[in-house]
Amino acid sequence: MNYQLLRNGQMLTIREAKHEDASMFLDYISKVGAETDNLTFGEGEFGISEEEEANFIKSLAKSDNQLMVCAFLDGKLVGQLVFRGGLRQRVRHTGEFGITVLKEHWHKGVGSELINYLITWARKSIIIRKINLRVRSDNHNAINLYKKYGFISEGAITREFFINGKFFDSIHMGLEID
Ligand SMILES: CC(C)(COP(=O)(O)OP(=O)(O)OC[C@H]1O[C@@H](n2cnc3c(N)ncnc32)[C@H](O)[C@@H]1OP(=O)(O)O)[C@@H](O)C(=O)NCCC(=O)NCCS
Repeated sequence: MNYQLLRNGQMLTIREAKHEDASMFLDYISKVGAETDNLTFGEGEFGISEEEEANFIKSLAKSDNQLMVCAFLDGKLVGQLVFRGGLRQRVRHTGEFGITVLKEHWHKGVGSELINYLITWARKSIIIRKINLRVRSDNHNAINLYKKYGFISEGAITREFFINGKFFDSIHMGLEID
């Protein structure tokens, strides 16, 4: 369990996910999916059952190159981050993460604390030597957040998203861990 004082004086609690969190997480993610068009899923499109989610969390918890972290304010889930390292030997040192924060808690520093946790975990892990991510090219909040932590743009991919009849490009960003 990790406690971080946010700039507004609220105490943020960060911990790794447990399989018992599956139902709470699915409630959270359905809210998040409805709040933003910057993710790979929209409202009702996550498409994972509670049992599948619980099994997913169990498999992450057993693995040494995968991580799911939850952030809580006053006991309520307000943010989460999932990092998935490669499965085969030649790509186990690298992986990609996704991050979300409930809209009513944006700009408080929750996203920053989740990324901080990931980078600290990666540095301690010995295995992880590269963290990657993909972000919609017009998601300036997120791009600024990643740059703040040293992520650099490594290339653009066209037509990565197709949302409401329109294509959106993505930027691939990465942080080397040494
Ligand atoms: C992107 C997201 C995770 C950021 O979470 P957050 O808790 O609001 O992030 P923080 O409060 O820690 O802000 C971190 C940094 O982002 C940048 N940032 C935040 N809001 C910004 C704004 N309005 N304009 C420019 N930069 C901004 C700043 O660099 C900020 O650092 P600072 O507060 O030290 O200046 C959140 O907005 C979110 O969940 N968005 C929807 C889902 C999403 O886009 N996920 C990422 C997909 S790749």
